[in-house]
Amino acid sequence: PLVSMTEMLNKAKEEKYAVGQFNLNNLEFTQAILQAAEEEKSPVILGVSEGAARYMGGFKLVVKMVEALMEEYGTTVPVAIHLDHGSSFEACAKAIDAGFTSVMIDGSHYPLDENIELTKKVVELAHILGVSVEAELGRIGGQEDDLSVDEADASYAIPEECDRLVRETGVDCFAPALGSVHGPYKGEPNLGFDRMEEVMNLTGIPLVLHGGTGIPTKDIQRAISLGTAKINVNTENQISSAKRVREVLADLPEEYDPRKYLGPARDAIKETVIGKMREFGSSNKA
Ligand code: G3H
Ligand code: ZN
Repeated sequence: PLVSMTEMLNKAKEEKYAVGQFNLNNLEFTQAILQAAEEEKSPVILGVSEGAARYMGGFKLVVKMVEALMEEYGTTVPVAIHLDHGSSFEACAKAIDAGFTSVMIDGSHYPLDENIELTKKVVELAHILGVSVEAELGRIGGQEDDLSVDEADASYAIPEECDRLVRETGVDCFAPALGSVHGPYKGEPNLGFDRMEEVMNLTGIPLVLHGGTGIPTKDIQRAISLGTAKINVNTENQISSAKRVREVLADLPEEYDPRKYLGPARDAIKETVIGKMREFGSSNKA
């Protein structure tokens, strides 16, 4: 069923695993992720950025596509449709109106007071409708769709500020930027685990790790042990599917039927997602 993230993340935090947020880019991504979740008996969060929603035909279309596939597959595991890096109150309201069960309001580029004010406004609307909310503090480096933060501007969240934001807004989960990056890492990631622990102790709510692509398993496990209950992955699925398309077309240079290369791309995404669910410990937790 389509649900908010609240229950799945509270359970994950308690039982020490993380639920994956896998971003949708098109039909094949959606099919692959829903199939992986059902096969693994894992809860799942479908992340939709504003750019990806625009590409696919809008928030409403995405909700209808997800609902239709869940019906077709007879999905039994909990599924959340979540706006990823919502850029404004209006974008969040639009997603909620279209049937999203969860939203992220990313006010991380605003001064703290403005971020709190904006996040609070989104929480007020969302919670009336049973929709969960994620907020962010500090700045996650790298690039994802419309969002681009260069290395110099990336910054670590300050635990006291995180505590204030969480307390004053009532968000359901929280993403402190602690050195993770959107897109591939240049070298090993350097995550701020000490601060993560402080943020966990101060806020007590499920934490979110963005930029899940390319984080070593030992860091994933450490993050989970420090209260991380949601890990976002997009680039890794994009890389694995693009690689598969390149292989198929290199093998079959005369091929032009999209099903012949997008089908294998879909298989690659499904394999990647299954691997992540096992790594995050969410398999058999639905
Ligand atoms: O919000 C989405 C994620 O943080 C994705 O990060 O593309 O590096 O896996 P990634
Ligand atoms: Zn992100």
